[in-house]
Amino acid sequence: MNLKKTAAEKAVEAIKDGMCIGLGTGSTAYWAIQKIGERVREGLKIEAVATSVASEELAVQLGIPIVPFENITRLDITIDGADEVSPQLHLIKGGGGALLREKIVAANTDYFIVVADESKAVDTLGSFALPVEVVPFASEWTKRRLEASCPDVQWRVKDGVKYITDNGNYIADCRYGEIHDPAELEAMLNSIPGVVDNGLFVGMADKVIIAKSDGELDIR
Ligand code: 5RP
Repeated sequence: MNLKKTAAEKAVEAIKDGMCIGLGTGSTAYWAIQKIGERVREGLKIEAVATSVASEELAVQLGIPIVPFENITRLDITIDGADEVSPQLHLIKGGGGALLREKIVAANTDYFIVVADESKAVDTLGSFALPVEVVPFASEWTKRRLEASCPDVQWRVKDGVKYITDNGNYIADCRYGEIHDPAELEAMLNSIPGVVDNGLFVGMADKVIIAKSDGELDIR
Protein backbone atom coordinates (compact mmCIF):
# COMPACT_ATOMS: atom_id res chain seq x y z
CA MET A 1 0.00 0.00 0.00
CA ASN A 2 1.35 3.45 -0.91
CA LEU A 3 0.61 5.42 2.26
CA LYS A 4 1.86 8.74 0.88
CA LYS A 5 -0.46 8.38 -2.12
CA THR A 6 -3.42 7.44 0.10
CA ALA A 7 -3.00 10.50 2.35
CA ALA A 8 -2.41 12.84 -0.58
CA GLU A 9 -5.43 11.66 -2.54
CA LYS A 10 -7.69 12.07 0.50
CA ALA A 11 -6.59 15.71 0.80
CA VAL A 12 -7.31 16.40 -2.87
CA GLU A 13 -11.00 15.59 -2.23
CA ALA A 14 -11.29 19.02 -0.56
CA ILE A 15 -10.49 20.87 -3.80
CA LYS A 16 -13.46 22.40 -5.62
CA ASP A 17 -14.00 24.34 -8.85
CA GLY A 18 -12.80 27.93 -8.77
CA MET A 19 -10.23 27.44 -6.02
CA CYS A 20 -6.63 28.60 -6.06
CA ILE A 21 -4.38 25.83 -4.74
CA GLY A 22 -0.88 25.78 -3.23
CA LEU A 23 1.15 22.81 -4.43
CA GLY A 24 3.66 21.37 -1.97
CA THR A 25 7.01 19.73 -2.59
CA GLY A 26 8.33 16.21 -2.03
CA SER A 27 7.34 12.61 -2.58
CA THR A 28 3.97 12.91 -0.76
CA ALA A 29 2.99 16.22 -2.37
CA TYR A 30 3.92 14.54 -5.67
CA TRP A 31 0.87 12.27 -5.32
CA ALA A 32 -1.39 15.22 -4.54
CA ILE A 33 -0.16 17.00 -7.67
CA GLN A 34 -0.72 13.84 -9.73
CA LYS A 35 -4.30 13.54 -8.45
CA ILE A 36 -4.98 17.25 -9.02
CA GLY A 37 -3.67 16.81 -12.58
CA GLU A 38 -6.05 13.90 -13.09
CA ARG A 39 -9.00 15.96 -11.82
CA VAL A 40 -8.00 18.93 -14.02
CA ARG A 41 -7.99 16.64 -17.04
CA GLU A 42 -11.51 15.53 -15.99
CA GLY A 43 -12.66 19.17 -16.00
CA LEU A 44 -11.81 20.62 -12.58
CA LYS A 45 -11.29 24.39 -12.94
CA ILE A 46 -8.56 25.65 -10.64
CA GLU A 47 -5.41 27.75 -10.61
CA ALA A 48 -2.30 26.87 -8.63
CA VAL A 49 0.95 28.23 -7.26
CA ALA A 50 3.92 25.94 -6.59
CA THR A 51 6.34 25.80 -3.66
CA SER A 52 9.31 24.75 -5.79
CA VAL A 53 10.62 24.70 -9.32
CA ALA A 54 10.27 20.88 -9.30
CA SER A 55 6.59 20.98 -8.32
CA GLU A 56 5.88 23.73 -10.83
CA GLU A 57 7.50 21.69 -13.62
CA LEU A 58 5.48 18.62 -12.63
CA ALA A 59 2.26 20.64 -12.52
CA VAL A 60 2.90 22.15 -15.95
CA GLN A 61 3.56 18.67 -17.41
CA LEU A 62 0.24 17.50 -15.96
CA GLY A 63 -1.71 20.44 -17.37
CA ILE A 64 -2.38 22.21 -14.06
CA PRO A 65 -2.68 25.97 -14.68
CA ILE A 66 0.14 27.68 -12.74
CA VAL A 67 -0.15 31.38 -11.96
CA PRO A 68 2.51 33.72 -10.52
CA PHE A 69 1.98 34.26 -6.80
CA GLU A 70 1.87 38.01 -7.41
CA ASN A 71 -1.18 37.60 -9.65
CA ILE A 72 -3.44 36.09 -7.00
CA THR A 73 -5.11 37.65 -3.99
CA ARG A 74 -6.49 34.49 -2.38
CA LEU A 75 -5.13 31.00 -1.83
CA ASP A 76 -7.85 28.57 -0.75
CA ILE A 77 -6.08 25.30 0.03
CA THR A 78 -2.44 24.23 0.16
CA ILE A 79 -1.50 20.54 0.33
CA ASP A 80 2.05 19.70 1.40
CA GLY A 81 4.06 16.98 3.11
CA ALA A 82 6.16 17.14 6.26
CA ASP A 83 9.25 15.51 7.72
CA GLU A 84 7.79 15.38 11.22
CA VAL A 85 4.35 16.10 12.69
CA SER A 86 3.91 16.60 16.44
CA PRO A 87 0.72 15.85 18.42
CA GLN A 88 0.11 19.65 18.50
CA LEU A 89 0.37 19.65 14.65
CA HIS A 90 3.63 21.57 14.68
CA LEU A 91 5.91 20.47 11.84
CA ILE A 92 9.46 20.11 10.69
CA LYS A 93 9.66 20.68 6.95
CA GLY A 94 12.40 21.31 4.43
CA GLY A 95 13.80 17.84 3.88
CA GLY A 96 13.34 18.58 0.19
CA GLY A 97 14.94 22.00 0.55
CA ALA A 98 11.79 23.99 -0.27
CA LEU A 99 11.02 25.26 3.24
CA LEU A 100 11.08 28.99 2.45
CA ARG A 101 8.56 28.95 -0.39
CA GLU A 102 6.57 26.29 1.47
CA LYS A 103 6.31 28.53 4.52
CA ILE A 104 5.37 31.61 2.46
CA VAL A 105 2.65 29.65 0.66
CA ALA A 106 1.37 27.98 3.86
CA ALA A 107 1.29 31.31 5.68
CA ASN A 108 -0.84 32.84 2.96
CA THR A 109 -3.30 30.01 2.47
CA ASP A 110 -6.77 29.88 4.00
CA TYR A 111 -6.54 26.16 4.71
CA PHE A 112 -3.24 24.26 5.00
CA ILE A 113 -3.53 20.47 4.74
CA VAL A 114 -0.50 18.34 5.64
CA VAL A 115 -0.29 14.85 4.21
CA ALA A 116 2.05 12.14 5.46
CA ASP A 117 2.57 8.47 6.06
CA GLU A 118 2.64 7.23 9.64
CA SER A 119 6.45 7.40 9.88
CA LYS A 120 6.18 11.21 10.13
CA ALA A 121 4.06 11.27 13.30
CA VAL A 122 6.32 11.82 16.33
CA ASP A 123 5.76 12.55 20.01
CA THR A 124 8.38 15.31 20.05
CA LEU A 125 9.95 17.11 17.09
CA GLY A 126 13.69 16.85 16.55
CA SER A 127 14.78 13.40 15.39
CA PHE A 128 14.84 14.84 11.88
CA ALA A 129 17.59 17.45 11.51
CA LEU A 130 16.00 20.90 11.33
CA PRO A 131 16.71 22.60 7.97
CA VAL A 132 17.71 26.26 8.22
CA GLU A 133 18.01 28.34 5.02
CA VAL A 134 21.06 30.62 5.09
CA VAL A 135 22.18 33.29 2.61
CA PRO A 136 25.62 32.54 1.08
CA PHE A 137 27.06 35.90 2.18
CA ALA A 138 29.06 35.38 5.39
CA SER A 139 27.54 31.91 5.65
CA GLU A 140 30.35 30.50 7.83
CA TRP A 141 29.68 33.30 10.32
CA THR A 142 26.00 32.46 10.30
CA LYS A 143 26.86 28.79 10.80
CA ARG A 144 28.91 29.68 13.87
CA ARG A 145 25.91 31.57 15.25
CA LEU A 146 23.80 28.45 14.71
CA GLU A 147 26.45 26.32 16.45
CA ALA A 148 26.10 28.50 19.53
CA SER A 149 22.70 26.86 20.13
CA CYS A 150 23.03 23.55 18.27
CA PRO A 151 25.63 20.82 18.82
CA ASP A 152 25.52 19.48 15.26
CA VAL A 153 25.19 21.83 12.28
CA GLN A 154 26.01 20.48 8.81
CA TRP A 155 25.79 22.17 5.45
CA ARG A 156 23.53 20.14 3.18
CA VAL A 157 25.56 18.72 0.30
CA LYS A 158 24.32 17.41 -3.04
CA ASP A 159 26.56 15.83 -5.70
CA GLY A 160 29.63 16.81 -3.68
CA VAL A 161 28.82 20.53 -3.47
CA LYS A 162 26.77 22.67 -1.12
CA TYR A 163 23.08 22.28 -1.86
CA ILE A 164 21.55 25.45 -3.33
CA THR A 165 17.85 26.17 -2.81
CA ASP A 166 15.48 27.53 -5.45
CA ASN A 167 16.18 30.92 -3.83
CA GLY A 168 19.97 30.66 -4.26
CA ASN A 169 20.66 29.95 -0.58
CA TYR A 170 22.32 27.18 1.46
CA ILE A 171 20.68 24.78 3.90
CA ALA A 172 22.22 24.10 7.31
CA ASP A 173 20.79 20.88 8.79
CA CYS A 174 20.71 21.37 12.55
CA ARG A 175 20.41 18.42 14.94
CA TYR A 176 18.98 19.87 18.14
CA GLY A 177 17.67 16.61 19.54
CA GLU A 178 14.24 16.92 21.13
CA ILE A 179 12.63 20.31 20.46
CA HIS A 180 10.33 21.09 23.36
CA ASP A 181 9.50 24.69 22.49
CA PRO A 182 9.34 24.93 18.69
CA ALA A 183 7.87 28.45 18.72
CA GLU A 184 10.78 29.78 20.76
CA LEU A 185 13.37 28.01 18.60
CA GLU A 186 11.73 29.16 15.37
CA ALA A 187 11.80 32.79 16.52
CA MET A 188 15.36 32.57 17.86
CA LEU A 189 16.71 31.10 14.61
CA ASN A 190 14.95 33.69 12.48
CA SER A 191 16.47 36.46 14.59
CA ILE A 192 20.00 35.47 13.44
CA PRO A 193 21.18 37.77 10.63
CA GLY A 194 21.86 35.60 7.57
CA VAL A 195 19.12 33.10 8.40
CA VAL A 196 16.31 33.42 5.89
CA ASP A 197 13.92 30.99 7.56
CA ASN A 198 13.82 27.59 9.20
CA GLY A 199 11.78 24.42 8.81
CA LEU A 200 9.70 24.77 11.98
CA PHE A 201 6.06 25.35 11.04
CA VAL A 202 4.38 26.20 14.33
CA GLY A 203 0.59 26.34 14.50
CA MET A 204 0.26 26.55 10.73
CA ALA A 205 -1.42 23.24 9.84
CA ASP A 206 -5.23 23.34 9.74
CA LYS A 207 -5.57 19.62 9.07
CA VAL A 208 -3.16 16.69 9.06
CA ILE A 209 -3.96 13.48 7.19
CA ILE A 210 -1.76 10.54 8.17
CA ALA A 211 -2.13 7.26 6.31
CA LYS A 212 -1.45 4.22 8.48
CA SER A 213 -0.27 0.78 7.44
CA ASP A 214 -3.43 -0.83 8.91
CA GLY A 215 -5.35 0.96 6.14
CA GLU A 216 -6.88 3.61 8.45
CA LEU A 217 -6.52 7.36 8.00
CA ASP A 218 -5.61 9.36 11.09
CA ILE A 219 -7.16 12.79 10.41
CA ARG A 220 -6.37 15.49 12.93
C1 5RP B 1 10.20 19.67 1.18
C2 5RP B 1 9.37 19.27 2.35
C3 5RP B 1 8.61 18.00 2.23
O1 5RP B 1 7.26 18.25 2.41
C4 5RP B 1 9.11 17.07 3.29
O2 5RP B 1 10.51 16.93 3.15
C5 5RP B 1 8.45 15.70 3.18
O3 5RP B 1 8.88 15.08 2.03
P1 5RP B 1 8.33 13.68 1.56
O4 5RP B 1 6.89 13.84 1.29
O5 5RP B 1 9.15 13.37 0.33
O6 5RP B 1 8.60 12.68 2.66
O7 5RP B 1 9.27 19.93 3.34
O8 5RP B 1 10.94 20.80 1.48
